[in-house]
Amino acid sequence: MNNLRPESMARITTKELADAFIAEQVAEVRRQVGDRRVLLALSGGVDSSVVAALLVKAIGKQLICVHVNHGLMRKGESEAVIDVFGKTLDANLIYIDATDRFLDLLAGVSDPESKRKIIGKEFIEVFADEARKLEGVEFLAQGTIYPDILESVKAAEGKKAVKSHHNVGGLPEDLKFELVEPLRLLFKDEVRVVGEALGLPHAMVYRQPFPGPGLGVRCLGAITRDRLHALREADAILREEFDNCGLAESVWQYFIAIPDIKSVGVKDDSRYEGWPAIIRAVNTRDAMTATIEEIPYAVLHKIVNRITNEVEGINRVLYDLTPKPTGTIEWE
Ligand code: XMP
Repeated sequence: MNNLRPESMARITTKELADAFIAEQVAEVRRQVGDRRVLLALSGGVDSSVVAALLVKAIGKQLICVHVNHGLMRKGESEAVIDVFGKTLDANLIYIDATDRFLDLLAGVSDPESKRKIIGKEFIEVFADEARKLEGVEFLAQGTIYPDILESVKAAEGKKAVKSHHNVGGLPEDLKFELVEPLRLLFKDEVRVVGEALGLPHAMVYRQPFPGPGLGVRCLGAITRDRLHALREADAILREEFDNCGLAESVWQYFIAIPDIKSVGVKDDSRYEGWPAIIRAVNTRDAMTATIEEIPYAVLHKIVNRITNEVEGINRVLYDLTPKPTGTIEWE
């Protein structure tokens, strides 16, 4: 299979071009797969969601989607996957709540790279366990897109990565699948146009990037369930307020991180020890460098007010104004 994008290939910028691409890929997938079954790890991110919608259109119930909830998803995300794919699209969806498995393994682990490795390895194990239970599956669909292909070319040339990003690659030896990668020649903006043409919700298709290890690298240091819960709630408030004031459409990535420290505060006239929530909101073209979004003060005040009043355990809100470099986008 040729992995390089032909120079003559037009950028997919309109619904008409997306429809033509979809028709072509539907035919191609049907030709490749025939009446056999295809497995897909459906995270709910843009790429895997668009692959899922495309394959549902091409092969219907021959596609088996597995959604592993590692307990590190943002508020409402797993529910959205179940709603859109399990209900609206009537896809073949297996939902696995592996929260306890992940959080037990992560207990007491504070080193960021160790956390990433545990999450990545366990994700593959949970997915592989499920794959072994299914009979007669010969294909694995992946949301590989063109920048991933370019990234692997760079890796093959020996360029160093700053953080080890995880995806579903690297399944155990006993699981051998032929790959189905219908988005492999597309850039991200084209994937979104194709997703909308397939009828996926705007919020899912234009979702900001979310790291594979999820909230695991934003609940800084050793993860605890109470701090993870506070993080999820505070992050949901930030997202809601960004939606309300229109920033959600324009800011590249925005989230809360919570460090493993407490400070003294006061609530209802008594001493109240709590964590600080750190707001991060950045803009970038390629995530290699990033600048800070200047959030209007009125919006910041509202966010501070809501988080400190509504989220148990948080008594301060900080605003990270550090560009990349010197900070990376994530704190871990
Ligand atoms: P950094 O923190 O390296 O992040 O400036 C750059 C972009 O990559 C995302 N990121 C990850 N994505 N697995 C992922 O899939 C990871 O382990 C990971 N770490 C960082 C980050 O959210 C940002 O968009």
